[in-house]
Amino acid sequence: MFYYNDIVTQLIMTDFYPMQVSDIKKETKDCTSITFDIPNELWDRFQYKQGQHLTIKALINGEDVRRSYSLCSSPIENKWQVAVKRINGGLFSNFANNDLKVGDQLEVMAPVGNFFVEVDPSKPKNYIVFAAGSGITPILSIIKTHLALEPQSTFKLFYLNRNAKSIIFKEEIEALRNKYFGRLEIFYFLTKEQRDIPLLNGRFTAEKIQELANKIIDISNVDECFVCGPEEMIFLIRDELVNAGLSKDKIHYELFFSGATEEDKKRAAEAVEHKFEGTEVTIIDGGKEFHFAMDDDYDNILDGALGAGADLPFACKGGVCSTCKCKVVEGAVEMKINYALEDDEVAKGFVLSCQAVPTTEKVVVDFDV
Ligand code: FES
Repeated sequence: MFYYNDIVTQLIMTDFYPMQVSDIKKETKDCTSITFDIPNELWDRFQYKQGQHLTIKALINGEDVRRSYSLCSSPIENKWQVAVKRINGGLFSNFANNDLKVGDQLEVMAPVGNFFVEVDPSKPKNYIVFAAGSGITPILSIIKTHLALEPQSTFKLFYLNRNAKSIIFKEEIEALRNKYFGRLEIFYFLTKEQRDIPLLNGRFTAEKIQELANKIIDISNVDECFVCGPEEMIFLIRDELVNAGLSKDKIHYELFFSGATEEDKKRAAEAVEHKFEGTEVTIIDGGKEFHFAMDDDYDNILDGALGAGADLPFACKGGVCSTCKCKVVEGAVEMKINYALEDDEVAKGFVLSCQAVPTTEKVVVDFDV
């Protein structure tokens, strides 16, 4: 007979925990929010920071599907809620939007992620935040948390959507504006609906960010900036804000994976060219060692290890979610792409194992650090 604690002990090995769906809500035609019922025994393990994400695993048509979604709830709500926007042909997003029901069970990993700054109730801060579509999910968590816990902080939200109907969490955002009167300003940008103010029509462009920086944002008073959306948008906003005088270290971003660019593909191909044939790899995970030799079928450590029978955490396999993060403690690897780790983490030896091509005869990586 299994008791719950036995199950938990077993599952810690793989880091996934079975969680029941306690609520499902259609936020827009193509976006569904899912709330999980986290058992009391796991509350400590599942504590999170605003802006972090959950990795969810489901068996869909016999396929092991893993996806990461940012929490849109705030840690102060004692709630674990994500929002899943339908993607054309997306296995999990269509399953979540069409088939998932209250009471269903999914496997969920504890929250992780670096897309946050610490709350400091004693320090009033001015935040500017940019989101496109479902990029609002971590941003909403960040806004709710800082507004509630930092009584004098302010936010300016710049939020891009197709049209008014597709604005995810519009009601909740409007309610926050009313609740924290004068502390949250909202600017909706729409791509498929024309309004009277030209600045708010269409995507973010260099000219628009310059206009915002000249007329709406007091750059010298900005303490932190958060951006969540596709890569192009993130780098455009970052570069224009830096040109306008905002320090780069105040700009935090979370990427949507929207496909690798030509430059990414070139960098990835170069890393693969440097692969050492037959590297002896040691994986340290859960205090145990797992040894295998890389073969020709795989170019990265994660796939090599999974192919050799290891059980390691991963989700996107695209260098975005950081679920597969580990530290190189011996030897060297080259990452194909990295959308998830900060420069200081890379400098400390952290890598994304799904992107890590071994380039030396022996490599030891540690998943426990
Ligand atoms: S599995 Fe997502 S970054 Fe490696």
